[in-house]
Amino acid sequence: MHRIGIVKAMKAEALPLIERLGLREGPPPWDERLPPRLWSGTHAGVEIDLIWLGRDERHGVDLIGTSAATLATTLLLTHRSIDWVISAGTAGGFVSRGGAIGKVYLGRSPICFHDRRVPIEGFRESALGEHPCMDATELSRELGYELGVVSTGDSLDAPPQDLEAMDRLGTHAKEMEAAAVAWIASLHGVPMLAVKAITDLVDGPHATEAEFLEHLHTASDRLAEAVARVIACLPS
Ligand code: ADE
Repeated sequence: MHRIGIVKAMKAEALPLIERLGLREGPPPWDERLPPRLWSGTHAGVEIDLIWLGRDERHGVDLIGTSAATLATTLLLTHRSIDWVISAGTAGGFVSRGGAIGKVYLGRSPICFHDRRVPIEGFRESALGEHPCMDATELSRELGYELGVVSTGDSLDAPPQDLEAMDRLGTHAKEMEAAAVAWIASLHGVPMLAVKAITDLVDGPHATEAEFLEHLHTASDRLAEAVARVIACLPS
């Protein structure tokens, strides 16, 4: 039986998927002082481990972003024998590139960091990442979700230099974990897929944080449906 790992940042995003897949929380097989937490179960004949990045106990909020995603993915892939890893979450979209609230994208390879700038040969390319993910062309055709460029940074806002980078990359989904997940997956030789649902429009008229919170639940429901459909369709 195949085993799929799902990496999730915010608990509010994870809960609809946990419910839909019937997963149960278990004691983490790592030092419990480390924040990530694990839910597991079987769905559509596939074993599933969902890892949530956990809580920042000092500030009383969920952990988000690339450091926490790197830690969680490393723990998941060292403690479980995972065949596929999915970075599932919400993202900012772009009206100018066909984005809309609730739209779901399957990530195209490679996945880059849009906020890392090191203008020295070699370090420039390393900072950009360009980490591989699986070719989701067939899944896109079967399920009707568009392929899109996913790019990653550690900020919710989008200052001009990040926007220029995202324009160069042609970003459809601006988020905060996928490139880190793709990096760790590539080190372990595990195929990685990004599934992202749009909560806010980066080039739209509304403030990102308000739009994000307004659409978080709807987008998380769409995302849960999309991930369940993807899991049922991954080659066995
Ligand atoms: N997640 C949801 N919306 C986002 C945005 N605009 N930037 C980064 N991560 C996001």
